Parts: sequence; structure tokens; C-alpha cells
Amino acid sequence: MPAKLHVDKLLDDPATKVIVCCGSGGVGKTTTAAALAARAAERGRRTVVLTIDPARRLAQSLGLRELDNTPRQVTVEGFDTEDRLHAMMLDMRRTFDDMVLAHAGPDRAEQILGNPFYQTISSSFSGTQEYMAMEKLGQLAADGSWDLIVVDTPPSRSALDFLDAPQRLSTVLDGRIIRLLSAPARAGGRGLLKIVGAGFGIFTKAISTIIGGQLLADASAFVQAFDSMFGGFRERAQKTYQLLRSPGTAFLVVAAPEPDALREASYFVERLATESMPLAGLVLNRTHPVLAKLPAGKALAAADELDRGGEAPLAAADELDRGGEAPLAAAVLRVHADRVAVATREQRLLARFTKAHPSVAVTGVPALAEDVHDLAGLREIGRRLAGE
Ligand SMILES: Nc1ncnc2c1ncn2[C@@H]1O[C@H](COP(=O)(O)OP(=O)(O)OP(=O)(O)O)[C@@H](O)[C@H]1O
Ligand SMILES: [Mg+2]
Repeated sequence: MPAKLHVDKLLDDPATKVIVCCGSGGVGKTTTAAALAARAAERGRRTVVLTIDPARRLAQSLGLRELDNTPRQVTVEGFDTEDRLHAMMLDMRRTFDDMVLAHAGPDRAEQILGNPFYQTISSSFSGTQEYMAMEKLGQLAADGSWDLIVVDTPPSRSALDFLDAPQRLSTVLDGRIIRLLSAPARAGGRGLLKIVGAGFGIFTKAISTIIGGQLLADASAFVQAFDSMFGGFRERAQKTYQLLRSPGTAFLVVAAPEPDALREASYFVERLATESMPLAGLVLNRTHPVLAKLPAGKALAAADELDRGGEAPLAAADELDRGGEAPLAAAVLRVHADRVAVATREQRLLARFTKAHPSVAVTGVPALAEDVHDLAGLREIGRRLAGE
């Protein structure tokens, strides 16, 4: 059995300043982040949740109607957070623009913002979203008015992207490549091809839009204008990186009870350890526990069946079918057998994860009947996270 993750203890601890929800695509990061923030606010902490691409209905229920890039107070009738719950959606383009404005002089800023190459990078560059999420986290932390900042992470394929992308982006915007780009005349354009060939994957897309075109000049102008700001950028990225490593930060890895998601979670757990970043635990989201809604007597029987490997209901269904008298009961038993099989499989997957990472605390959240798109749903997820 894995150690239990005590979510309320984590949320109530004044030393917890930042919670980062990571995980591979579609596992429930945004839902978990919003649910944690709502619960923390209800429990008395002044909380802001930084969401990234929330589903429209969820955003609406948080009162987020537009990407305005600043925290908004969430007020919902009958929801006892007073003025403590705030939410925002990350506007990656605007965050990037603000950063340029803050670091470059007004003339230079204008030059950068108007540059087509900048516009490509700031709105469609893969890695930019992760970088800007960290930048925004840095800003919220510097603001100093929050007890707790809950951070959602971008919908990337891999959880590791959140940690890798900023580094890759700053490498791209850094020394060697800058020099290659800023000296197109000398390199005769070959420099760019060399970059592509060298496998700078995330740069390829931007590069391919500029190769052989007028945009080459834009790129060169852009990096030259940017060059003077790199000191500032690196410093900030470094500061945020330190914040992520500080004991006030807690990473939560969200995973679905599926082999791929759990494998991804494993990589992430190992990576956090390598980086000395504090892991709070694993959220196993959308589980299918058999005992969830059964009354006690039946639950016990089901538990017995589970122990026996879940064959009993199937055998009983076969028996009923042979008699041909109770087709409904046979169908119910088959559904039940199916659920037992799913639950057993999920437990086995979790056991494998726990065996590899015995010290990682875990909390499970069952799959709710419906998508989570309002405060009531978030509260329900919050209760499940806390193990209620
Ligand atoms: N425990 C749950 N029960 C039912 N529905 C859930 C649960 N957790 C998440 N969902 C639903 O699953 C969908 C995906 O969840 P969510 O958006 O939180 O995932 P995500 O990890 O943020 O995805 P992405 O990687 O695309 O950002 C949403 O529609 C959400 O309402
Ligand atoms: Mg999301």
C-alpha cells in the first residue's frame, strides 16, 4: 500500500506557498489545480490559481470570461471563500509582451514587439507557454499578496516539458544561436541550416517559417534587439527555478490509472529528485473503485470477490444465464465483474508505480459521472483529493 497523501495538511500548512500540478496531457491537471485552490480558499488561505487553457465552461464558472492575464476574484453564491479565491488564465503572448516592455527601453520594446519573428515566437513557439507559465508564477510570487499560488501546467504530451521547455527556450535565445542568427551575412544562411540539422527541435518550426525569406532579416533584428535583455531574462528564469526548488513549493504529479500516464509520472518523479525539486505526491485521477457507492454489506461482498480475483460474479452470471430466469441480474453481475476487472487492473498499475517509488504518497480521485465544469464539481473533486 502506498503512503497516503494528506492534501488538507498540505493546503493548511502556511509553509506551502506554491503547488504545481504536472502530468501528461488530459489527465486532469487543470481540474486538480482549480479544485485545490477552491479548497484552500475555503479553508482560509488567500489563494490564486493560474490556469492554462481551461475548458470554456470551467473558466466561465470561475468567472473567467476573457484572457486578461491578471487574477480575478471568484465569487459564487453559497461558496464560502469570501474574498480569498482568485483565478486567472495565462495569456502567453501578453506575458511575453509585458516582459519585453519591462526589460527593454520603450524604443527597443516597440521594435521587438513589431517584429514578425517575435510575433511568431511569442504566440506559437512550443515551449513559450511553459516559459511564460514560469514567468507568471515568478510575478505572482513577487507580488507577495498570496498565501498560496496553485499552478496548472500546459497541455503538453509530456510532463517533463514543463521543466525542459524554459531551459530549451533560453538556450535558443542565448549565445551560440543568437550569434548564428545575428550574423546571417557571415554564415551565408548556412548557420540556420546547421541549427536545424543539429536537432534544435523546438526551433525548427520558427526557423522553417523564416528560411529563405524576408523573415531572416526580422529574426536577425529581433535577436539583436533582444540581446541586451538576456541578462534580465536569465536572471528571472533562474529566480523562478530557485522558487521551484524551494521547500515552500510542492509538486503534485497527476496521472490517470493508465500505463502511459503512470510511466510518464515515474519519469517526472525521478526528474524532480534529480533537480532537487520537492514532490508532494501523486494524484491518481479518474479511478474506478468498485466499492465507491455500494452499501456496506454489498461492499464487503464485493471486496471478498476482489480478493478472489473477481471471478465469482462472472461464474454466477453464467449460472443465471444457463437457468435463463434472471437476465437482468445476470447483466448486473457482468457489469459488476467488469468493474472489478477494471479496478483490479488499476490497483495493479498503482502497485507497480509504488514498488518503483515507495516513498511517493498517493491520493486517488474517482472518475465522476460528469465532466467537472462548476464550483460544485470542483468541491467534489477537492473532497475526494482530501480523501473524504
Ligand atoms: N475525476 C474526474 N471525473 C470526471 N471528469 C474529470 C475528472 N478529472 C478531470 N475530468 C474531466 O476531464 C477533462 C480533462 O481534464 P483537465 O482539463 O483537468 O485535464 P488536463 O490535464 O488539464 O488536460 P490538458 O493536458 O489538455 O491541459 C475535463 O473535461 C474534466 O472536466
Ligand atoms: Mg489543462
